[in-house]
Amino acid sequence: MISFSPHAELPLDLVLERLKIAAERPFEDARPIPPELHHARAFLNREREALFMREWICIGRADEVAAYGDYLTHDIAGVPIFAVRQADGSIKAFVNACAHRFSRLLADETGSRKRFTCPYHAWTYDCAGALIRAPFMEMKNGFDPAKHGLRELHAAIWEGFLYVSLADAPANSLAEALAPLRDKVVGRYDMACYRSVLRETMTWNANWKNLIENFTESYHVPFAHAKTFAGHRKPLEDYLCGEDSDHYGYHRAAQPSDDRPGAAHPANDRLSGEWRRMMVDFCIFPAHLVTLMPDYLWYITVQPAGTDQMRATWGVAFPPEVLADVPEADYKAWLADFKSYMDIANAEDKPLVEALHRGTASPILPQGALHPIERNIWQFTRYLAKVCGAYP
Ligand code: FES
Ligand SMILES: [Fe+2]
Repeated sequence: MISFSPHAELPLDLVLERLKIAAERPFEDARPIPPELHHARAFLNREREALFMREWICIGRADEVAAYGDYLTHDIAGVPIFAVRQADGSIKAFVNACAHRFSRLLADETGSRKRFTCPYHAWTYDCAGALIRAPFMEMKNGFDPAKHGLRELHAAIWEGFLYVSLADAPANSLAEALAPLRDKVVGRYDMACYRSVLRETMTWNANWKNLIENFTESYHVPFAHAKTFAGHRKPLEDYLCGEDSDHYGYHRAAQPSDDRPGAAHPANDRLSGEWRRMMVDFCIFPAHLVTLMPDYLWYITVQPAGTDQMRATWGVAFPPEVLADVPEADYKAWLADFKSYMDIANAEDKPLVEALHRGTASPILPQGALHPIERNIWQFTRYLAKVCGAYP
């Protein structure tokens, strides 16, 4: 399909001005994210610099690299990276490029090694990124291997999730920025004890922020998710949107019954009262989305692949008491069942998210509005305005 986007070449100043106007509206009069933000190439470049090159980006879960030498590769807005478990139990992250002539070092998505050898000229690094072998480089006078290790990045773990920042000096500490969310809301679930069972990647024809908008509102659930999440029967009146923050947004609601999926396993002694039936949907700005349930969690980390395409890596993790109930012989079939449930949910969302992108391509639109339980979209808009420089 040949598509033409009237917003594509808009100058950055104009897009930022529209963002500022949207962000300054009180929530009572809030409008959708300005459509220009989903289509203007100049704004995509700004997002890349201000968000993906600077902020903490989730790349998966810490238990995906459980043992010394386990590694995970990823890509943050075009920058190839990898994270590897160290001998002391910490995790380090590096640019996935050799220190010789910058060839990509690791091709696999996951793996386990104590030594990383570049296939090009066999320069070899240990898990801490130090160059431990550089064939024939003794022929070069004064070559000091200590100066030619891999380029290290900042890595952090929060509640079982693994984050990387490409910034020389990250603007904030993840633990400090997210402390209110942890202490008041999600800490009680102990997400770090959940075990990861799935990791998938999908590409949709939409702007990455269309997925953020979609995931951070549950208004669409009763209409869009008839085969999946609508089964939790949470009345829209019961949704509560969380406080305004510069670092995250969330909303939550309890389902009426103790049915699973959606409620705590009887052996779960971490949650009490209505929290045993509570779903929390949250977004760690800019790009990490989580649906947290007492008996599983689903997360997505999304990023742009242009203005018109997004790539999302998602995963699912279960608390130990739920996994303990699954007989080993049934595990494969049980997991396949759950994966097909998530595939159906994603298939329910995909055409809607892609339709958001098509509709917002128009420069001629009605006024737009947000429902009271769409507050997270307004919060995200305000975050974008602050971090992307709408207030010079
Ligand atoms: S580019 Fe890696 S060893 Fe030469
Ligand atoms: Fe959805």
